Amino acid sequence: MKKIISTLLATTLAATAAFAADIVAQKVDADLTKVSYTSPFWKSAKFSEVTMYPQTAIKMNDKTANKLNSDNGAKIANVAAVYNGKEVAFLVVWDDVTMNIQTGYKTDSYADGFALQFPSEVKDVNKLPYIGMGSDNRPVAVYLQKAVRGFYEPNGDGNVYYQLNRNQTEFFGPELKKFDKKVKGIGSNDYEKSFVSEGFRSMTEIKDASKYNSYSRLSYKDKKWMGTLARPISDSYATLNKSAFPVAIATWDGAKLGRDGIKYLTPWLSVELEGGQDASALIAATSAKVKGDVAKGKEAVSTNGCAGCHQIELSDPVNLMGPSLANIGGYATAGYLRESLLNPSAVIVPGYNRNAHSNYMWYTLDNGKRVSSMTDYTWLDAESLNDIIAYLQTLKAEVK
Ligand code: HEC
Repeated sequence: MKKIISTLLATTLAATAAFAADIVAQKVDADLTKVSYTSPFWKSAKFSEVTMYPQTAIKMNDKTANKLNSDNGAKIANVAAVYNGKEVAFLVVWDDVTMNIQTGYKTDSYADGFALQFPSEVKDVNKLPYIGMGSDNRPVAVYLQKAVRGFYEPNGDGNVYYQLNRNQTEFFGPELKKFDKKVKGIGSNDYEKSFVSEGFRSMTEIKDASKYNSYSRLSYKDKKWMGTLARPISDSYATLNKSAFPVAIATWDGAKLGRDGIKYLTPWLSVELEGGQDASALIAATSAKVKGDVAKGKEAVSTNGCAGCHQIELSDPVNLMGPSLANIGGYATAGYLRESLLNPSAVIVPGYNRNAHSNYMWYTLDNGKRVSSMTDYTWLDAESLNDIIAYLQTLKAEVK
């Protein structure tokens, strides 16, 4: 039996780069600055099915959350895009049986939501920014929309959780009533925020309301969320190539608790503007499957001690020394996996709070520069490297 399994695993992944973009944006003759899911052009737009994977790099310290997230499958979203020469707009549709809205009162409730992310600039399609948050010298523009009700944020810092302790009604009862009334009056139902980010903990909010930089809406109907975003094809936050550019889509399920609800994430996807120039370089970079022997790769992962720091497959024990790799094949490109092995410090996944968990530091600081605690694997021969990457590309949850 074991033999049969390894023979099956040994079937190498064919490098069949189907040269079709993940998403094809249709050209429309319409104003795209105020787009919603009811905009008429979506009727004739072409929808693509994309897969989003649970981002599970960090183990939560919350039993309820861990139980809810112990066996997360991947999720499907349907995406369409249109452009008019100046702006580009997206419609993202995904199933969610529970509608979770953040009221701004409760510290233990999380909102459903979605985000679209674009590299600020693509100089080299094989060096895209880190998928979650961008990375050093490779910034991304992130557009986030959450389901909120009566959102009120007097400090302007985006923190609605810790403004009031509602349990202390004996002290603050009358103030709370006054506050609630005020929120009802001026609270906004629109959370829309955009950021520029160059790696973890470097998110800078774009607060440039004087000029149009994006417009995003979120609606819930028939147990589906429909999120739209419109933005210029090019502005100072992201210069998208006129023929093809990458996008990554994230959705949050507030019902799953976790860190702000569980986040599902696509890999970098290629968007082709209909009628544009050749997009094959981008398509090849985002969809490349490394030719390698998956079974040998699995073995090499075992003999090279990766499990000493990583949970490899979901059935393997959790390891706090490094991020879980159980879904890495879902959202990482082949290029990113190769870079992770050859130059671990190129992108640092920061991990747990370093002061609270000093035994599980994922990086050390060298003159202020983050250095990964992972050793590099530059000494591996090219074949083993390809085998390992081919194996890592298979690590992803099934769609549920
Ligand atoms: C000494 C501990 C250690 C060993 C051994 C180790 N890693 Fe890592 N690895 C880490 C840490 C810590 C990080 C997160 C910090 C960073 O980004 O470099 C990481 C990051 C990664 C990432 C990026 C993950 C992400 O979520 O973006 C990949 C992929 C990876 N390692 C693969 C491997 C493979 C494959 C092996 C074995 C050939 C291996 N690692 C061996 C500690 C280790």
